[in-house]
Amino acid sequence: MELKPEMFTEDEIKSMLTEISEEEIKEAKKRMLLPTKSITMHHAEPGTPYIWDTKGKKYLDFTSQAWTLSLGWSHPDVVYAAAYQASILNHIRNQYPTISRLKLIKKLTDIAPGNLKKVALSTQGGSIANEIAMKIAMVNKPKDYIFVTTWGGYHGTTLATYAASHHIPFITRFHHFALDRFVKVPYPYCYRCPFGYESPKECNLECLNIMEKTINYGVNASVNSVIIEPFQGAGGNIPAPKRYIKELRKMCNDNDVFLIFDEAQTALGRIGTMFAAEYYETIPDIMSLTKSLGGGFPIGATLAREDLEMFTPAEQHSTFSANPVSFAAGLMFLHLVEKLNLPQRAKEMGAFFFKRLREMQEKYELIGDVRGEGLFIGVEFVEDRKTKHPATDETEEIVERCIERGLIIDAEAPFITRKGDIRRNVIPIKPPLIISKEDAERGLDILEEVIKEVSDEFEIPYSKG
Ligand SMILES: Cc1ncc(COP(=O)(O)O)c(C=O)c1O
Repeated sequence: MELKPEMFTEDEIKSMLTEISEEEIKEAKKRMLLPTKSITMHHAEPGTPYIWDTKGKKYLDFTSQAWTLSLGWSHPDVVYAAAYQASILNHIRNQYPTISRLKLIKKLTDIAPGNLKKVALSTQGGSIANEIAMKIAMVNKPKDYIFVTTWGGYHGTTLATYAASHHIPFITRFHHFALDRFVKVPYPYCYRCPFGYESPKECNLECLNIMEKTINYGVNASVNSVIIEPFQGAGGNIPAPKRYIKELRKMCNDNDVFLIFDEAQTALGRIGTMFAAEYYETIPDIMSLTKSLGGGFPIGATLAREDLEMFTPAEQHSTFSANPVSFAAGLMFLHLVEKLNLPQRAKEMGAFFFKRLREMQEKYELIGDVRGEGLFIGVEFVEDRKTKHPATDETEEIVERCIERGLIIDAEAPFITRKGDIRRNVIPIKPPLIISKEDAERGLDILEEVIKEVSDEFEIPYSKG
């Protein structure tokens, strides 16, 4: 493949994409409708978790940019596949199948668990993949229009997925839309059990009992589906217990309700298995995927049981829903997941992270809980281990200081109240799955140094030995 521009020189194009003055940045930011961080990113090192801003500062990223870049930035094979595809065919409407689309469909359904052998690809991320999941469910159970979702659940930012998400309606101005279609029940957040149990061992899966009662007595119409993140992401990085998900499958069968897994974050290696469905040995009826699947390009996929009825053309189409470039990148990503054995890598590197984070937990009172699997890790910060009072200000300080020192992390929020009170006290650790031990240690050193500093400043005890 030889890429040659026609109307501009290569240098002109490169400078268009890599040079900007402070004045231009300031001016453009004034015109943005969306809020952003103060730094502007410039370029990344291919196949690594390293990125530079426009001022030349280097950052190590423990977030994989919304838990997406499992191979780090710009993996050379993904970039080559996408660039080659773009050079021979860059757009097509979805009535026309292409080779990258058909091969991606074949590959996805080959690796998909159980009988999830039908797929609707899209290129607008997780929100649309979830909307497609809900639409498949509605096509197949046209009379049942209530969806059960969970406290803390997050499924996207389209109007319907806002409503499906627990906390988002309270902090947006779209809270009225479609909320009557969703009923929310407690998620098995065992560190803060919604029913007050000290340990998951002693509970009788109350979360599930209340869900079943809600389906039967708590709604004014028939329930179509339960939509759940098997590992809750934005709501606090919380893996559901294995027995909960297994029993949930049974409960959905008993009550003739579809089970939809939102595997936006969990699929394709991050938790140490290819899918959460594999981890739980539980096959949903419908599953949505996005994020890492595109290898850094926008993509979504909704898988469904082979026997389910699919859409008519009018029910699911969109101008960009068949973009061959995204699908070429996705196809290459799936080949690389296997070639590099990313699930195994996540397991091994996960064990490395957990060991160090659990040592930190022993030492710093500020760390209340360390949970997850593979490289899906949540660290929950508390002001006091007994009361578990969320350490919101401390967490914010930790995030800001880490970024100042060149480690990109973020905080997520298990608490958003009806009054809009947001308490962000969970830091997800979800680096690219290809991260090296050396880079992991570098980032963890920065994190520990900052936790120590913040503990001192907020007078939260830690062992000084
Ligand atoms: C579990 C889950 N579902 C859905 C979404 C929405 O995906 P997108 O932002 O690509 O629309 C996200 C995004 O973070 C997510 O974590």
